[in-house]
Amino acid sequence: MLKILITAGPTREPIDPVRYISNRSSGRMGYAIAEAAIRLGHEVTLISGPVSIPRPEGLSQFVPVTTAAEMYDAVTDYFPEADLTIMCAAVADYTPAHTAPQKIKKNEDEFHLILTKTRDILATLGTMKKKEQILVGFAAETENLMQNAQSKMVRKNLDYIAANDVSGTESGFDSLFNALTVFRRNGEVCTLPLMSKTELADALLSLILNENRAENK
Ligand code: PMT
Repeated sequence: MLKILITAGPTREPIDPVRYISNRSSGRMGYAIAEAAIRLGHEVTLISGPVSIPRPEGLSQFVPVTTAAEMYDAVTDYFPEADLTIMCAAVADYTPAHTAPQKIKKNEDEFHLILTKTRDILATLGTMKKKEQILVGFAAETENLMQNAQSKMVRKNLDYIAANDVSGTESGFDSLFNALTVFRRNGEVCTLPLMSKTELADALLSLILNENRAENK
């Protein structure tokens, strides 16, 4: 039995008490991976941004977070204990430099929002990673899927990256279906074609777990 850490869903970056910047992640892909890992009998911690789908049954830990900063703190806390970590969450790359304490009034014709970069959680994990830990990232891309995904894998010191073409509406964000191209650090590539996120989660996990089981023999 492995300790598996999974992130899912979007983050919300507050502009004022009632407005935020976010994205279309429903959490379905990450939740499906968590469910697949539970079915295989593993100990699963799910760190989730705000979603409206039911929490998987049988989790060891469920950690709800809202912002990218909260997700950073939660993930870096749980990571040292994890045998396998899969970062499926769509974490905001930018956050408002200031959050207004009161609801912003529409006094001006133009409103300029200053955004600052969030910390890259996956890149941080890449620097913390021990030899026996397996680290898997996702790459959501609308262009140059392969090149962008492979460069993220190397830059962030990952063992695998699951490249997700999110340019269409029939897969990716907020769909019941998805397809992935999985790159491995040693150059191997595996295409997981369009299927339900439940089936895809099973396929992704068995790819990673079978390869590593075979290697450790
Ligand atoms: O939730 P669903 O509706 O089911 O949709 C699934 C999905 C499309 C969100 C999922 O399959 C997916 O592609 N997740 C990754 C989304 C993403 O933010 O990709 P990215 O290419 O921007 O980020 C690359 C990697 O860095 C990701 O593993 C991300 O979790 C991580 N990251 C990003 C920013 C940040 N500040 N810290 C991070 O760790």
